[in-house]
Amino acid sequence: MIKVENLSKRYTSVFAVDNISFHVPGGEILGFLGPNGAGKSTTMKIITCFMPATSGSVSVGGFDVFNDSIKARRIIGYLPENVPLYTDMRVNEYLLFRSKIKDVPRRERKSKIGECLDLCGIVNVQDQIIGTLSKGYRQRVGLADALVHDPKVLILDEPTIGLDPNQIRQVRGIIKNLGEKRTVLLSTHILPEVEMLCNRVIIINKGKIAAEDTPANLLDIVTASSNLSLEIKGDSKKVEEVLKTIDDVEYVSNRITAKRDLQKEKILPNTSGKDEVNTFDIECKKGVDAREKIFNAMVQNKFIILEMKKRAASLEDIFYHITTKEEGVR
Ligand SMILES: Nc1ncnc2c1ncn2[C@@H]1O[C@H](COP(=O)(O)OP(=O)(O)OP(=O)(O)O)[C@@H](O)[C@H]1O
Ligand SMILES: [Mg+2]
Repeated sequence: MIKVENLSKRYTSVFAVDNISFHVPGGEILGFLGPNGAGKSTTMKIITCFMPATSGSVSVGGFDVFNDSIKARRIIGYLPENVPLYTDMRVNEYLLFRSKIKDVPRRERKSKIGECLDLCGIVNVQDQIIGTLSKGYRQRVGLADALVHDPKVLILDEPTIGLDPNQIRQVRGIIKNLGEKRTVLLSTHILPEVEMLCNRVIIINKGKIAAEDTPANLLDIVTASSNLSLEIKGDSKKVEEVLKTIDDVEYVSNRITAKRDLQKEKILPNTSGKDEVNTFDIECKKGVDAREKIFNAMVQNKFIILEMKKRAASLEDIFYHITTKEEGVR
């Protein structure tokens, strides 16, 4: 449904997008991840015909976005990064205006607007002036606008940014529903959002595609190296020495700050030696589960494990692995 081939965009001296290619088949929700300035919004602006490319080609639903832009735009719903709205208009007036611009047939306008108001949870603010709405509600109006002409393709640039946790949940629910019938390209910085919504993820870094896979496989790259967090009662130096002797353990670090916090909160007495409590971050060898060996080693040495848990991979971990450790993973 979306085909991007060798796309590049240069702003004066820098390549914001540097020769990227990807396809989004119909019905897929593709997550677009990347640090600030990676080129996500630029790519989206080109796909939605808001901006010309320096080179390369993009087609949406078979229409070339440069040569057949009007036809392509008819099937695209776009929620830009900063939702542009007419703040003096009322919500329903604005959506009516937008539906006219987008050529929604006159007799369908009312029902389409009703559906979008309902879907985006803004029925009760439909008569309100947009300028008086909170940020989250404006975001919803932007989403309703993107949907009003019933587009086959949705391009959503950080749709949950600036929303409160309840609204994030609701908007994610809306996107999930929308994705059942439509093709969605969604940019975000939030990893759980990608896991929850997307069938596939593209990580873009400095204008280039750094990785492309399912969320589960990408997380595996990181969790395969099994990061553990371990809270242990015992002399910190001795515990560290023992941990380092375990052959599946690659890296051990003592999270001293955690200890300080606990003492500050008076959860623990200010102890040292065998009653000392420390938290260790441990990186194990790739694909290895070292928990059993760690447990046995601690028991043998009479150190007490207060807690042992897998550290959840974060977006930062993935970026770190993909952009530094595994340069060029595709
Ligand atoms: N109009 C412009 N003129 C010059 N440089 C620009 C322009 N728009 C974007 N850039 C640059 O292009 C690069 C990519 O920007 P882009 O907005 O696509 O990043 P992004 O991935 O969306 O980042 P963010 O997560 O911060 O939204 C950045 O270095 C940015 O400074
Ligand atoms: Mg952006």
